[in-house]
Amino acid sequence: MKHSATSIILAAIMAAAIAAGCSSGMSLQDRLTVNDRKINKIIAQMTLEEKVEMLHSKTNMSSEGVPRLGIQDIKYTDGPFGIREENGDGFRPLGWKLDSATYFPTGSALAATWSKEMAYKNGWAMGKEGRLRGKDIILGPAINIQRLPVGGRTYEYLSEDPVLSARLSVEYTKGSQDAGTAVCLKHYALNNQETDRGSVDVIADERTMREIYLKPFEAAIKEGGAMCVMPAYNKVNGFYCSENAHLNNEILRDEWGFKGMTVSDWGGTHSTMGAALGGLCVQMTGDNYFGQALIDSVRNGALDEAVVDAKVREILRLRFAIEPVPEDVANTIMTSQPETQKIAYEIAQKSIVLLKNEAGNLPIAKDVKKIAVIGQNAVLTTAAGGIGAGVKTLYEVSPLEGIQARAAEAGVEVSYAPGYRSYSMSWGKRGPLGPLDANDPSDPADPKLLAEAVALAKDADMVIFFGGTNKSIETEGSDRKNIDLPCGQNDIVKALYEANPNVVTVLISGGPTDLRFLSPYSPAIVQGWWNGMEGGTALAEVLFGDIAPSGKLPFTFPLKLEDSPAYATGSFPGANSGEDLFTLMYRLDATGYTREQIQEYIANLPDPVSEYKEGILVGYRWFDTKEVPVMYAFGHGLSYVDFEYGPLSCRQKKDRIQVSFDLKNLGAMEADEVAQLYVRRIDSKVERPLKELEAFDRISLKAGETKKVTLEFPVSELAHWDMETNGWVLEPGKIEILVGSASDDIRKKLETEI
Ligand code: BGC
Repeated sequence: MKHSATSIILAAIMAAAIAAGCSSGMSLQDRLTVNDRKINKIIAQMTLEEKVEMLHSKTNMSSEGVPRLGIQDIKYTDGPFGIREENGDGFRPLGWKLDSATYFPTGSALAATWSKEMAYKNGWAMGKEGRLRGKDIILGPAINIQRLPVGGRTYEYLSEDPVLSARLSVEYTKGSQDAGTAVCLKHYALNNQETDRGSVDVIADERTMREIYLKPFEAAIKEGGAMCVMPAYNKVNGFYCSENAHLNNEILRDEWGFKGMTVSDWGGTHSTMGAALGGLCVQMTGDNYFGQALIDSVRNGALDEAVVDAKVREILRLRFAIEPVPEDVANTIMTSQPETQKIAYEIAQKSIVLLKNEAGNLPIAKDVKKIAVIGQNAVLTTAAGGIGAGVKTLYEVSPLEGIQARAAEAGVEVSYAPGYRSYSMSWGKRGPLGPLDANDPSDPADPKLLAEAVALAKDADMVIFFGGTNKSIETEGSDRKNIDLPCGQNDIVKALYEANPNVVTVLISGGPTDLRFLSPYSPAIVQGWWNGMEGGTALAEVLFGDIAPSGKLPFTFPLKLEDSPAYATGSFPGANSGEDLFTLMYRLDATGYTREQIQEYIANLPDPVSEYKEGILVGYRWFDTKEVPVMYAFGHGLSYVDFEYGPLSCRQKKDRIQVSFDLKNLGAMEADEVAQLYVRRIDSKVERPLKELEAFDRISLKAGETKKVTLEFPVSELAHWDMETNGWVLEPGKIEILVGSASDDIRKKLETEI
C-alpha cells in the first residue's frame, strides 16, 4: 500500500512527541503533575461528599467530575481493538446509529506484526475514535502475558514475551494519548487465567513478577506515559489487585513514578479500607465500598482524608490532561472513519503468519481456476462476542468475501461449503446461579456436511480449509479446556486431503491450536487470526501473492498442551470452582437476580490458588531451556521470499548495545522481514532461560534489495531481579548475541562481554 497522508502525519506526530519528551527533560509521568497547584486549590474547595462521589461509578462507563466547579465526568470505553458501542447503564446496547466503530485486529494479531509503528497507529486510531465518541479513557491495551495456551483472553493479550509486549504497549499508549484519549493499562497484574479470575490467588515470586509479568506495564507507564491503570480481578500473593499495596503503591507509584489514576476491573473492588489504603482510586462499578462507607471511614477517624485527597488529585490530573469532548460535538459522525479503517487494514496485512508452505501451495498458482473454500470460519464474523472486547463494527470483510472479491479479479471460480457446524456457547441451562454449560466443542464431524465438502474438494484445483476456534470457545470469563481443533475439523481436513491434496489450512483463532493431527494433511498452514474488519481483504492478498506474508508468532504453538510450562509443572489447572465473577455479574444484568443474592454467592466461592511454578520460564523460555520440541516456535513465520543475514558487528555505545548486519531479500517480490535479536548469558551465576528476546525490527525490502539493519537495546535490559537484595542487578560477563528470523531460526551469532 502507498504511504497515505495519514501515515505521513502520524510519523510527524511521533517525531514531535519524541522530541517534546526529550527537550522538556520531564518524565512523561511528571508531566501529569503540571496542574497540581490548580488541582490542590480545587480539592481545598471540595466537600468530602463531592470527593467521594468521584471515587466510584456514576454509570457503568463513567465516573463523576465536580459538577459544582464545572469539572466534567470521566467517560470510559472498552477497548482494546474497537470503541465499544454505546450501552445504557449496564451492558445492553442502546442501538445508536452512529456508534459503529472500526474493528482492529485483536491483540495477538497486532502482536504478530511485531511492528512498533503498527502499535502506535492502532493506539492513535483508537484514540481518534474515542474522541469522536466523547470518551476520555480507553480500557486497554490489555497487556498481560499469555501464560497459558488455553487462556480465554489470549486473543486480547499481546504475547508470551515481555519485551515484545512492552515495546508494543508503549507505542499503543503513546498513539492513543497523542490522539487525545487516555489509555487504561489492564489487567494489572498477573491476570493470566480466566478460570476463577475473580477469586484466584496468584502466587509468584518477585523475580518472576518483575522480569516477566510486570515488564509491559512498567514500560507503558515509564516510556509511554500511561495515565490510567486497571487493577485486575485476581489476587496476587494474598491480596486482591485492587487492594494490593505492593503492586499499586510500592511498585506502580513509588518505584515507577506513576502519577495517574487507577480504576478497578468491573466488580473487582472488595473492601473499603483495603482498597483505600491499597492504592485504588475508583471503584468500578457500584459504590458499596467507595461511597458512604468511605465517607464514614473518614468521619470516624479510621482513614485520613488526605488519602481521599490523593485519589481525587490523581483523577483530576487525568481530567486536566485529557480535554473533555463537548456533548454537542461527540457522536455527531460515525465512529469508524476511512482513515482509521485503513490502519486496521494495514495491521491485518502485516499480521498474517505463514506457518508452513512445504509444497509451495502458496501463493495460489496461476493455473488454479477453481477453489473450494471449506469451513464455517470462512464466513463467521469475529468482531462481536468474547464479552468485553467485542466490537460493533461498521462492516467486516469475512475471509470468504475477501477471497471471492480477489478471485473474481483473477477470473477464478470459488465454491463454498461449511464443512462443520460452528460451536456456540449457551448461557446457564442449569439456572442463572449454576455453572455455565461446559465448553464442549468436541462434537465429531457431521457426515452430511463432510460429504458435501469432499464433493467440492474433488471438483476443485485447490482447497482452502478454514479451521480454528471462535469467540464462544476463546472468550473472556473462561479458559479453553484444551487446544484441540473443534467440531471434527481434524477429520474433515483428512478427508479433504484424500479427495484433493492441494490443501491450504487457514486458522482463524486468537490463540494456538494443536496441529499434530492436521499437519500431515495440510501442506500449507496459515495463521489468520481475528484480524479486524479488513481481515478478509488482507488474507486474500496474501493467499493470491499480492503481498508476502510477514507476521511472526507472538507465542509458541506447543506440540501438545501438556508440554507447556504451567501444565508440565502441574500448576494449571489446579482445583478450581469454574466460576467467574464477571460472568455472574453479567447474568445478574441479564436475569434480574438481586445484587445481594449474587454477593452472597460470590462470598461463598472457594479460594483457589494458582502457583506459577515455572517461574521465569514462560513460553519459549521454557521450551528452549528444557529442550521440549514444539510445533511452531515463538517468532516463527515464513515469507514467499528468503532473506540472507550478513555477519554481525556489535558495539556498546554508552549504555546501549547496537548490533548491525546486512539483510538481503533474495526473492523476486517486495517483502518484510522481522529480524529478532536474542541474548544468551554464557556464564551467569543465576538461573537464566536459554535465550531471551531483547530487540527486533520490521524491515521492508524490495526484490533483491539489501539494507543495513541495526538492532539495539539498553544494557540494563540484561539485569536480573535479585531476590536477596530485592533489586535489579546487572551481572557482568560474556553474552552471546543471536540474530535470526525466529527463535528457532538463528542465522548469525556473536560473542561479547558486558
Ligand atoms: C473486563 C475488562 C473490561 C471491563 C468493562 C471486565 O469484565 O475484565 O477488561 O474493561 O469488564 O467492560
